[in-house]
Amino acid sequence: MTTNDSQSSPNSVPVRKVRKAVLPAAGLGTRFLPATKAQPKEMLTVVDKPQIQYVAEECVASGIEHIIIVTGRGKSAIEDHFDSSPFLEDFLEKHGKKQQAKMVRDISDMVQVSYTRQKEPLGLGHAVLVARDLVGDEPFAVLLGDVLIPGENPATKQLIDVHEATGVGAIAVEEVPRDRTHLYGIVAGEPAPQPPFGARLLRIRDLVEKPKPENAPSNLAITGRYVLPPAIFDCLERTKPGAGNEIQLTDGLRTLAQEQGLWAYIYEGISYDAGDKLGFLKATVELALLNSELGADFRAYLKTLKL
Ligand code: UTP
Repeated sequence: MTTNDSQSSPNSVPVRKVRKAVLPAAGLGTRFLPATKAQPKEMLTVVDKPQIQYVAEECVASGIEHIIIVTGRGKSAIEDHFDSSPFLEDFLEKHGKKQQAKMVRDISDMVQVSYTRQKEPLGLGHAVLVARDLVGDEPFAVLLGDVLIPGENPATKQLIDVHEATGVGAIAVEEVPRDRTHLYGIVAGEPAPQPPFGARLLRIRDLVEKPKPENAPSNLAITGRYVLPPAIFDCLERTKPGAGNEIQLTDGLRTLAQEQGLWAYIYEGISYDAGDKLGFLKATVELALLNSELGADFRAYLKTLKL
């Protein structure tokens, strides 16, 4: 570890910088059929960009230097998207479209991207485990490739700040309506306020996958952003297949919370599950309204609709 790679937490334990992010993108996307029959759901376009580009941009805005995308069969469009396109760039330059040529070039230049393959979609926990060798022995972020959290204050950066201040892993949570807890992983924990994070920080005691409202220990749902120590890999190695015969990340996180501690952080922002049809539509409408080129016209159009 070099001095540049580490800093001290308040209790003087050196904390390694979070440089890498794993983006699991090997799922089958069955909630979005038939759109996902022959194309990755992470490549479905929200306004003018594929979902996974928003996620990669959140990584860059959070200071991540190396993105590891976990792909699978039928996902090669993701690799093509982040690759350079000399022919297209050349064509655009020759036709005087310098701005578009730059836009295309910027996608492949924005960050180092590596790929690893999950041979079978054996669960989110398994997808993270597949990235073990590429991550190595350092803390890393995980961002789900189909969850969008737009905004100036990236959720991943918020978690990195918690990790760098405390030396402990952190997962993003948000409040959901009580009657919807059965759709999420739900956190059981104790408030652990501390500056500068205040009441947003909770110490996780347990994690419950999709509890009925009457059994839910809280209404704080896991949101698809994580900053984890490398110890999560050993936890996942020991995790037996759970719901759906898949290795669940939530089960590995429960072990991690018990053995090393883990924060839940009520992040600032709004998430969209764009792997779900309704979530995708909400993301499309709201991001179109925020878009500098389209927003005003789109808002005017929406107002003409008789709802
Ligand atoms: P999801 O549960 O949303 O993905 O996982 P899915 O299995 O593709 O979705 P449905 O339910 O069939 O529609 C969240 C993220 O984890 C990835 C997915 O690609 C998605 O980005 N994932 C999931 C994997 O990489 N591997 C898996 O085995 C499962």
